[in-house]
Order: sequence, then C-alpha cells, then structure tokens
Amino acid sequence: MTTKAIVLAGGRATRLYPVTRSVSKQLLPVYDKPMIYYPLTTLMLAGLRDVLVIATPDDLPRYRELLGDGSQWGISLDYVVQQEPRGVADAFLVAKEFIGDNAVVLILGDNIFFGADLPSLVHRAIADNRGATVFACQVQDGSGLGVVRYEDGRVADIVEKPVKPPSNHAVTGLYVYDNNVVAVAGSLEPSARGELEITDVNRHYLRKEALDVVFLGRGIAWLDTGTHDTLLQASHFVQTIEHRQGLKIACPEEVAWRMGWISDRELAGLAAGTSPAYANYLKGLLQEPGVP
Ligand code: DAU
Repeated sequence: MTTKAIVLAGGRATRLYPVTRSVSKQLLPVYDKPMIYYPLTTLMLAGLRDVLVIATPDDLPRYRELLGDGSQWGISLDYVVQQEPRGVADAFLVAKEFIGDNAVVLILGDNIFFGADLPSLVHRAIADNRGATVFACQVQDGSGLGVVRYEDGRVADIVEKPVKPPSNHAVTGLYVYDNNVVAVAGSLEPSARGELEITDVNRHYLRKEALDVVFLGRGIAWLDTGTHDTLLQASHFVQTIEHRQGLKIACPEEVAWRMGWISDRELAGLAAGTSPAYANYLKGLLQEPGVP
C-alpha cells in the first residue's frame, strides 16, 4: 500500500465572478505562479509523487497543458473530470479508481500553506494515520469554514460554516485518509446546500474515534483565496517573502530539484519554458550550492 494524493481544482468559484466566469479559480495567479502550484508543491514537499488533479470538464485541458504528466518534475500527474461540483467529499468517488486500495491525501486547489514545518507534519501524519488526520489553524473568523468544537480540551465535533464558531480553530483544506474514505464518502447524504461535505467525512471518523486533529502553530501560515481581497493579500504575502529572501515559494521545479527527483541538468533544461526572470531564478539555484 502506498499513499496517493489528490488536488481538487473544480468548483464554480462564483464568489470571484466575473473573474472566474471563464477561468478556473485555481489557475489564477497568486503573485508569480498559478494558484495550483501552491497546493501541488505542498504535496511534493511531503514526498507525495503520485497525484491526481480533479477539474471541471471545461478546465481540465488547461490544467493538463499547464502541468503535463509531471515527469518534468519527477512526479506522476493524472487527471479526472468532476462533472458537477457535488462537494469536496465527491473527490473520493471521482477518484475511486485512482485511489485503488491505497491511502490518500487530499488538498484543495485553493489552499495555500507556508511554513518550514509543514512537510514533516504531513509526513508524520501519513506515517501515524489511524483513519483520518486533519490540520487545524487559528483564524479570526471561522464562520465560512469547518470549525473544531472542543469539550474538556478534546475535539468533540467539527461544525461546517457555523453561524457562531465554537472556536477559532478552522479545519484547513489538507486531509489524510485511510482507504476506507471511499466507502465513507459513498455513504454520505448531500447536505442542506446539496453537497457531499468533507466535514461529514471527518465527523464519521471522529465518531469512530479514528480522527486526529493536528494543530498548525503560528509558524505556519494558511492563506485564504476566497475573495478578491484575500486573493490579493495572498499575492502580497508571497511577493513580500520572495523579495526579502530571494527564494520562491511553491516553485515546482525547485521543489523537484531539492527533493532529488530531477538532476541539475534537468533543472537547467526546465528554465527554457519559462519567463526570463523565472529562468534566471532556476539557473541561479544551480550557482548557489550552499543555499539550504
Ligand atoms: O478551505 C478549507 C475549507 O474548505 C474547510 O474549512 C471546510 O470545512 C470545507 O468545507 C471547505 O470549505 P469551502 O466552503 O471553502 O469549500 P468550497 O466549496 O469553496 O470548495 C473548496 C475547493 O474545492 C474550491 O477550490 C473548489 C473545489 N471544489 C469544491 C466543490 C464543492 C471542487 O473542486 N468541487 C466541488 O464539488
């Protein structure tokens, strides 16, 4: 058994209309890269190399054009269409064949994480997983998210889009599951908003005492891209860090190279298909062997 990974990049993103009327949200730029690079590299940094991208029928060819089969980055990318946005948990039904009898990590295509500790946390969650593992993060207002409810210091429930959030700990869009998740998703009824809710999957595991909630501390940033303002803020965040450090966030070529999945020569070769600035960055990596 191995662990497969899914990036869910479908949905209608009506909150960003008219911007997303003809362009998939997860293809929009977050500063200097398409949004999907961020969740994809989060998976890569956790060592996951067998990845399925789920997109709408109209957008799927664009993802394929952008990302290819992944071999240029030392990974394998497959694609499957979600015909209708039936909910986040529908990903496991759409991906049933891809998952096979393996464990699976799901990341939402609009979730951006930044923090040096995250790869090892995900890695450990995969190794220690006893059913499901979710990652929670402190937010000022969780009313539009899944939120953890505690009782006597223990996780008692997860509430989706609570009018009055029971805590400031939101469940992020990064999830680790055993193979049973396909059956769990198949047993769900659509929620009031007509979707198969990922929170209902997590509540199922919680009831079975097989859910772990890993709290991401303040050293890890989890950025929202749901509105025009938060999308712009995410771009500014990436711009600020990249300008200060001279290191890119979520550069798949660099991640593949640092993971040892592509050679120096292959990294140099990838510079050809990019802009002069991006190409200079990739070539610069080869000239600074001391960079961690
Ligand atoms: O971002 C974390 C939050 O994601 C969690 O805290 C919530 O518990 C979880 O339900 C989810 O909430 P959202 O309201 O943000 O989910 P949304 O419907 O916006 O979908 C999240 C992503 O998944 C988005 O990029 C679009 C994609 N998607 C969504 C649906 C419903 C699909 O590809 N297919 C779908 O059917």
